[in-house]
Amino acid sequence: MNFEVTSVQQLQEQLARVRYLADDGLATALFLAARLPQPLLLEGVSGVGKSELARALSEALGLPFVRLQCYEGLDSREALYDWNYLRQLLELRRAEGSGQGAGAELNLFSSQFLSPGPLLRALQLSEERPAVLLIDELDRADEAFEAFLLEFLADFAITIPELGTIRPGVPPIVLITSNRIRELHDALKRRCLYHWVAYPSLEQELAIVRLRAPEVPPELARAVVEAVRWLRSLDLQKQPGIAEALAWARAIRALGHEALTPAVAEQTLGVVVKNRDDVERVRSTAFSGLAR
Ligand SMILES: Nc1ncnc2c1ncn2[C@@H]1O[C@H](COP(=O)(O)OP(=O)(O)OP(=O)(O)O)[C@@H](O)[C@H]1O
Ligand SMILES: [Mg+2]
Repeated sequence: MNFEVTSVQQLQEQLARVRYLADDGLATALFLAARLPQPLLLEGVSGVGKSELARALSEALGLPFVRLQCYEGLDSREALYDWNYLRQLLELRRAEGSGQGAGAELNLFSSQFLSPGPLLRALQLSEERPAVLLIDELDRADEAFEAFLLEFLADFAITIPELGTIRPGVPPIVLITSNRIRELHDALKRRCLYHWVAYPSLEQELAIVRLRAPEVPPELARAVVEAVRWLRSLDLQKQPGIAEALAWARAIRALGHEALTPAVAEQTLGVVVKNRDDVERVRSTAFSGLAR
C-alpha cells in the first residue's frame, strides 16, 4: 500500500481535516473503494456531498484529482483523448517552412500532439499512487456511454492505435455519482460498490455548518439547520441541500443578523429556496416552521 489508508476511522479523520464529514457507512464504502480497489457508485439527491467527497478524498490523501462531468451526448472520444489539430497544423507549417517537405519523416501522431481527456489523464496520473477519478452525474450520459465505461472500468487500459496501449501503474480510485435521473444498468452496478448518500442527521449537518462556516454563531447555525430540515419536510420541487444550509447561514451572518426570525427568513429566502412555486409554498405556510 503506497498511500495512507489503514482504517475506516483514520480515513474519517483525514477527511475531517479537509473539512468533509463522512458518517460510518460512507467512510466504510470509501475505504473499501480505495483499498480493494473497486469503483464506488454514490447515489443520492442533490446537494448531499457526493461530488465533494471525491475532491475531499484526493485532498485528504494528497492524490491527483480528475473529474469527468457527464452530460447528454457525451461520447467516448471526449472522455478519452483527441488529437490537437492546431498543434499538428503548426508543426506541419513549421516543417514546410524549414524545407522539411514531402518525403521527410514527420510524425504528427506522437504523444506531444495528444490532448488527453479526463479518463486518459486519470490513467497517466496513476503511476505509483492512484489518481482519484470522479465520473460525475453518469445518469446524465447516454446508455452508449455507460456501456463504453463498463469496458473502461474492466481493465483500465486505453488503446490509441497510433501510440499503443496505455496502462496505469496502479488502478485509479473511481467514484461515480448519480442523481437517478435514470436508473443505471445492472452490469455497471455489479462492477461497483454502492452507497446511497442520504441527508445527514441534524447533529451531523450542524457539525458540517460549524466546520465550513465557523464565523456563524452556534445558535444561528442550529436554527438554520433546523429550518432547512423543516423546508425539506415540505415536499418542495427543489429541496435545499447541505450547500444551501451553508449558504443561508453565511448570508444571514453577512447581513449582520444574529437570529433567524421570519423577517430575516423572508429577506434571505432566495439563498435557500430556488424555485418560484416553492417560494410561494414556503410563504403560504407563513414561515410557521421558522418562527422561533
Ligand atoms: N459531508 C460533508 N461534509 C462537509 N461538507 C459537505 C458535506 N456534504 C456536503 N457538503 C457541502 O455541500 C456542498 C454540496 O455538495 P456536493 O456538490 O458534493 O453535492 P452533490 O451531492 O454532488 O449534489 P449534486 O447532485 O447537486 O451535484 C459541498 O460543496 C460542501 O460544501
Ligand atoms: Mg455533484
